[in-house]
Amino acid sequence: MKVFTLAFVVSVVTAASLPTLRCRDSTYRFVGRVNPETKELTWPSTGVAFSFTGTTASININSVRGTASVSLYIDGNEPIVIPSIDGSPIRTPTLPLGNHTVEIRKRSETNFGTFRITNVTTDGTFAPSVAPTRKIEIIGDSISVGYGLDGVLPCTDTALLQNNPKTYGAVAAQALGADYSVVAWSGKGLVRNYASNPPDTQPPMPVVYTRYGANDEDDSFTFPSSWVPDAVVINLGTNDFSYLNVREPVNPAALIEALSALIESIHAQYEDAQFFLVSSPLLSDYWPTIEDAQKTTHIRVLQTVIERLDALKIHFVDWPTQGSDVGCDYHPNEATQAQGADLLIEAIQTALGW
Ligand SMILES: *[C@@H]1O[C@H](CO)[C@@H](O)[C@H](O)[C@H]1NC(C)=O
Ligand SMILES: *[C@@H]1O[C@H](CO)[C@@H](O)[C@H](O)[C@H]1NC(C)=O
Repeated sequence: MKVFTLAFVVSVVTAASLPTLRCRDSTYRFVGRVNPETKELTWPSTGVAFSFTGTTASININSVRGTASVSLYIDGNEPIVIPSIDGSPIRTPTLPLGNHTVEIRKRSETNFGTFRITNVTTDGTFAPSVAPTRKIEIIGDSISVGYGLDGVLPCTDTALLQNNPKTYGAVAAQALGADYSVVAWSGKGLVRNYASNPPDTQPPMPVVYTRYGANDEDDSFTFPSSWVPDAVVINLGTNDFSYLNVREPVNPAALIEALSALIESIHAQYEDAQFFLVSSPLLSDYWPTIEDAQKTTHIRVLQTVIERLDALKIHFVDWPTQGSDVGCDYHPNEATQAQGADLLIEAIQTALGW
C-alpha cells in the first residue's frame, strides 16, 4: 500500500512539473515491461518503438549498468545488432528521406546489464506509433530468456550470446503479428531456483513476476490497462527439477500448487487471457536418472494444473526434449527455439483463431 501511494504521488508531481513527459507519449512508446517512472530497460525484450518522417533518429540513454546487447529493427528489416550498450545514443544509419519505423529490443537479460531511456530525437518529425492489437506475455527462465542461444557448446554465456528476439515466444509473436513482453530470468523456478552450492536464496519466479522493472520492489507492477495480453505463455519448472549433489528431487505436488497459484493470480488481472503451458526442451526422461523421468513428471504437473483449473482456458504445448546441437550450458539453440515457436504458433492459432 505504501509503495502504491508513493508511486501515485510521484506520477502526479512529474506530470504537472515536467511538460516534456507529455511529449514522450507522442514520440515513442515502450515495448515489453518497462516501468514508466524509471524508464529503465531491465527484462529481456524491453525497448522502445516509434515512427518518424526524416532521415535519422537517436534513442538517447543514460544510467548504464553492466553490459546489454540490443537488436535495432528499422522498417521491419533484419535487425542491426548492438553488441554492448556503452551510454552513447543508439542511432539509426542515415536513411532515405521518408517515413520509417524503429524498434529496439534488449537481447540480454537483467543480470548482464540495464540502461535508461532519456528521450528519442530525430532530424525530422515523429508520427504516431501504435502497438499491435494482439498481445502475448511470456513468463519463464533461461529458455525464455534465450540464454546462450547464439553460442555453440562448449561456450560461456554472455550478453551478446543471449538473443531474446530468437526465443520461441518472440518468434511466435512476430509470426502472429503480435506485440510481446517477456518476463524471464535465468535460473528461476516455480518454488526453488537452479540447484547451486551455496543455495540460491533469491525469490523464485512467481515473486519476481510481481516486479515492474526486474530490480524494482516486489508487487510494484501495476498491470496497466494499456497493455493487456490475449495469451499468457508460461514455461517454468526446469530449474526446480535440478538437484544433483545439492538437494532432494523436487516434490511435484509443490510445483502443481505454485503453478496453479501463479495462473490464478494472473487470471485475476487478465480475465480474458488464455494460458499456454509449455513443456521443457531441457528436461529428459533419461537424465539424471531413468527413475526421475523428469520430462514426463513435468508434463504431468502441467496437465494436472490444466485439469484442476478447468474453469480457465489453459492449453498444453508439448515441446520435445532437444537434440544434441545445443547452445551454451546445454540451452536451446536457434533451431530448437524455432521448433518451440512453431508449436506455440499452432496452439495459439487454434485457441485464439489468429
Ligand atoms: C535527450 O537526452 C539527452 C541525454 O541522454 C540530453 O542530453 C538531451 O538534452 C535530451 N534532449 C531533449 C530534446 O530532451
Ligand atoms: C508519411 O507519414 C505521414 C504522416 O505520418 C503521412 O501523411 C504520409 O502520407 C506518409 N507518406 C508515405 C509515403 O507513406
